[in-house]
Amino acid sequence: MKKALILLWLTAICTGAFAAQPSWLKDAVFYQIYPSSYQDSDGNGIGDIPGIISRLDYIQSIGVTAIWLNPVYVSGWTDGGYDIIDFYRVDPRFGTNADLADLLRQAHARGIKIVMDLVAGHSSDQCEWFLQSREGADLRYSDYYIWPSFKPDGGTTPGAGGSLDDAVRNSAGASLLSKFVATDAPRGPYYIKNFFDTQPALNFGFANPDPAHPWEQAVDAPGPMAMRRELKNIISFWMDKGVDGFRVDMAASLVKNDPDKAATIKLWNEDLMPWFEAEYPEGVLIAEWFNPSQSVAKAGFDLDFFCHDGQYNYSTLFFFGRRGFGPNAVQATPYFDKAGTGELKTWYDLYTYQYNAVQGHGYVCMPSGNHDFNRVCTEGRTTAEELKVAMTFFLTMPGVPFIYYGDEIGLKQNPAAPSTDGSGFRAGCRIPMLWDATANAGFSTAPIEKIYIPQDPDPNRMTVEKAEADPASLLHYVRTLLTLRKEVPALGADASWRLVSTLDQPYPMVYERRTAAGERCWVVLNPSGKQVSVTLPTEASAPELIGGSYKKCSYKQTKKGDVIQISPVSAAIFKFNSSRAFPQWPSAVVSKADKTTVEFVVRDDKPILMDIYQFKGQKTEGKRPVFIYSFGGAWAMGSRVDALCNPLYDHLCEKGWVCVAIDYRLGSARGRDGKPLITPPEGYNPFQYSIDIGVEDLYAATSWLIEHADEYNIDPEKIVISGSSAGAINSMNAEYYICSGHSLAKENLPDGFNYAGVMPMAGAVYLTGDNDTELRWDKRPCPMCFFHGASDPTVTFNVENNPGRHGFGPEYIGKQLDTLDVPYMLYEYAGGDHVMALLPLKWFWNEIDSFLDRIVVEGQNIKVHAVETSPKPRTNENWLDTVRPGQFNAVNRMRGR
Ligand code: NOJ
Repeated sequence: MKKALILLWLTAICTGAFAAQPSWLKDAVFYQIYPSSYQDSDGNGIGDIPGIISRLDYIQSIGVTAIWLNPVYVSGWTDGGYDIIDFYRVDPRFGTNADLADLLRQAHARGIKIVMDLVAGHSSDQCEWFLQSREGADLRYSDYYIWPSFKPDGGTTPGAGGSLDDAVRNSAGASLLSKFVATDAPRGPYYIKNFFDTQPALNFGFANPDPAHPWEQAVDAPGPMAMRRELKNIISFWMDKGVDGFRVDMAASLVKNDPDKAATIKLWNEDLMPWFEAEYPEGVLIAEWFNPSQSVAKAGFDLDFFCHDGQYNYSTLFFFGRRGFGPNAVQATPYFDKAGTGELKTWYDLYTYQYNAVQGHGYVCMPSGNHDFNRVCTEGRTTAEELKVAMTFFLTMPGVPFIYYGDEIGLKQNPAAPSTDGSGFRAGCRIPMLWDATANAGFSTAPIEKIYIPQDPDPNRMTVEKAEADPASLLHYVRTLLTLRKEVPALGADASWRLVSTLDQPYPMVYERRTAAGERCWVVLNPSGKQVSVTLPTEASAPELIGGSYKKCSYKQTKKGDVIQISPVSAAIFKFNSSRAFPQWPSAVVSKADKTTVEFVVRDDKPILMDIYQFKGQKTEGKRPVFIYSFGGAWAMGSRVDALCNPLYDHLCEKGWVCVAIDYRLGSARGRDGKPLITPPEGYNPFQYSIDIGVEDLYAATSWLIEHADEYNIDPEKIVISGSSAGAINSMNAEYYICSGHSLAKENLPDGFNYAGVMPMAGAVYLTGDNDTELRWDKRPCPMCFFHGASDPTVTFNVENNPGRHGFGPEYIGKQLDTLDVPYMLYEYAGGDHVMALLPLKWFWNEIDSFLDRIVVEGQNIKVHAVETSPKPRTNENWLDTVRPGQFNAVNRMRGR
């Protein structure tokens, strides 16, 4: 039962089930429709709901599975529908509530979900709530809005006061003073707005109400609580009609004077989210917050956008001239440009920060565009080839893809479009869809001057009809990409992402997508107008080209490494055949997990350091297995901690493990400060001493973890120890001492404690080469991993006069290895008293996983796989020679050479 629960819990962690995501979300592809611009059905020049219904077959044919509709509610139309007059009724320009119900029915019949916009933070100044609230303080809706009785000192934020730029800049976190709107309403002299003056903010309270400002109500005051009830009513009203969820407009804006968003996060996370999840477990809530580390990781949204806004954006990838808003707007040529002069670092830093933050919680989504910023098809980037490269990016990144209507055919930004419905410059991306060769490109039968926003007059403009007829069109390419994404799980929402190429050489960008099961794809993007190539670390075998848009693309394995060459303005998708292929370690990896360093003294007054890694937010969930890694002498070189452990820890932490790194004080070892860790007392055999102290350290760390099991939610029955170099020997001895009833174990560990597994890694480094540089995985990947031990646990090691050295025998090691299900060999030498197992490191990542899941979590048994004897008996004199040829033969055999 317990095992089942643990497995259930691990599964839940792996699938992100704790975030209570709707089951359909991970396979979803969204299509965003700005309803006024999609299809006009009644000839008035403005798109409507029956028009959208008439295009559902086309929408389905693209391969999308959900539609996000910009607001369709009764609106004052001063901000594209985001100034809502009646939250419960469809605006007559779009039809009726019955039309919406029809859209739901017809979309659902095609397997398409419908997500609406929820404008939670403000209404129109024409809304009856506001009209009543402005009259007096004791009416039903009086407290739905905020009415400052005076304007405190502090001036206005520069630029405040009406322009769209100012509204956008101020919407995120600017001083509330910039949102004071002077009014002659009886309730005046001011109200607080959210965006434009016509959008008074709804009152969800203030984070820290200032008693000197009587209008600042607490978050749980009656007014803000009534507001929350109203919001829930709106949500229920539409959800009960069959809507599948909401994109929440300015979701971070609800609580005022909340600079760190703590109170707004709390409101979502503690009230609205649990309520929504209980009522509508299959409903989705998408944040417009532009900071997934808050919205998804903390507030509980299923996903959030990473596109144009403020600091959290991809401006440097796509925007020309004016790129994004706010102080971080960038003026340089974007990455996705033929010039090939862009950089990736700005985006990479921001993206990886957000991507890491949401792991286990939800998704970061990079939409192809939206109704607030330039389309992907815009100045300087208008050819199908260029757009295919961009679309390859959008549709092969993790998270849920969003295609802004028309981007699938390359609908072109119109910089000259006149402001419409308060759009300002945003009219340029809200242009009506281009369908066919009939009048107004099939969008509307109205006279041309009545068309919502003027369409591209170019007679060569792309239309759906033309795109359908051309097998090389962007539309067909998008369909192929979406089919591929559906068929290849490594291209899906949940597969992990990492940059394989370097930031120093941004063209081509190569990134890897990988599933937990080990399926791997590489996506290669070259938006530049030049042919480019990149040399990457050697893979086990060349991958297969499974998609893309390129004239030429090659993958060659050379002595210097694997070389990918790709033609100008091209994209390619590769898939590795072997699910066992090992992801190359990046050169230096900083763990994404939170690290706590614990320090304690075991003996000699020298503190031992222990680092505990875990992802935020996982601490309180379930009883977690623990992976302890004991470091050998190479700590100071940083090779293993950077190259092996950080990615390994992150991988395990993602699965819900707690990971622990501890120093191991072997005589020759250096600490993290580069200084010797111990000096053996006089007369003490240094090796014996280092083994004993190393084991004691491991026991001390283990006992500490068991003592703090509740605090860290640790399962004391699921602790596995491992290590590199001397740390590998250390971990084997630590377990052996337990099994053999050694006094060190009895004295230092709780009664009855046993490790759930031992997995020594690279344990025989000192037998394999002149020094650790062979294992500098930051330079070149280590070709193999070693498990080693004496052939009989009771026989001591006989190396370098070291009578006290214990290890485990081939049977034990074979048992461990057999579970790994890969070719390996056990290698006996030194008259049979030593055994070494060799594993190509290419396979190692999956094997670690397999071992940990099966041995530690599931408690499976294991058996000997194969034993081979060294061709030469090993002696103290020839040990290097005798071991190394055998290793290389073994590895070559395993590689089939
Ligand atoms: C964000 C929306 O996307 C934008 O179009 C609107 O103007 C503001 N929020 C205000 O609702």
